[in-house]
Amino acid sequence: MSDEQKLRVSKITEGTVIDHVTGGQALNVLAILGIDGSGGEEVSIGMNVPSERLGRKDVVKVEGRELSQDEVDVLSLIAPAATINIVRDYDVVEKHRVERPGEVVGVLQCPNRNCITTKDEPVDSRFAVLDEGVRCAYCDTIIRESIADHIHVG
Ligand code: CTP
Ligand code: ZN
Repeated sequence: MSDEQKLRVSKITEGTVIDHVTGGQALNVLAILGIDGSGGEEVSIGMNVPSERLGRKDVVKVEGRELSQDEVDVLSLIAPAATINIVRDYDVVEKHRVERPGEVVGVLQCPNRNCITTKDEPVDSRFAVLDEGVRCAYCDTIIRESIADHIHVG
């Protein structure tokens, strides 16, 4: 297949392409980035598009925006094969694979309603990354499944 045939979503001029996202996870990627469309962000998404490496993959392209390390860290938990491509002036100027971090700060919300991070205190959530899930550094609550359901919204 030629590149022209493969290209489902137009290229961007300036911003970030999150490529090789696990098929079906694109909307969770947007949730991690806090994008729901209401902020007027310019975003293109490809879902379950054919990929040589993954079989099927999602692609998220965000115009005019770079990601914070905390966002990339949480992203790695739901899309471990993702590549982050930084685009400037239409060219990919930086490309890196996400890495599973030792801990993730912010972005996730502790499911324990009595945890200090879910009170009105200005305390960022902090989770240690385990082989199977993540553990709150403040109350030891472990999230094993559906990590994306614990992405902090609002
Ligand atoms: N891309 C984009 N807009 C640009 C440049 C690149 O949307 N101005 C996208 C491409 O469509 C691709 C990703 O960014 O999905 C990475 O681009 P590139 O490195 O050129 O592609 P590949 O070499 O195929 O990447 P990889 O080796 O990581 O699969
Ligand atoms: Zn907690």
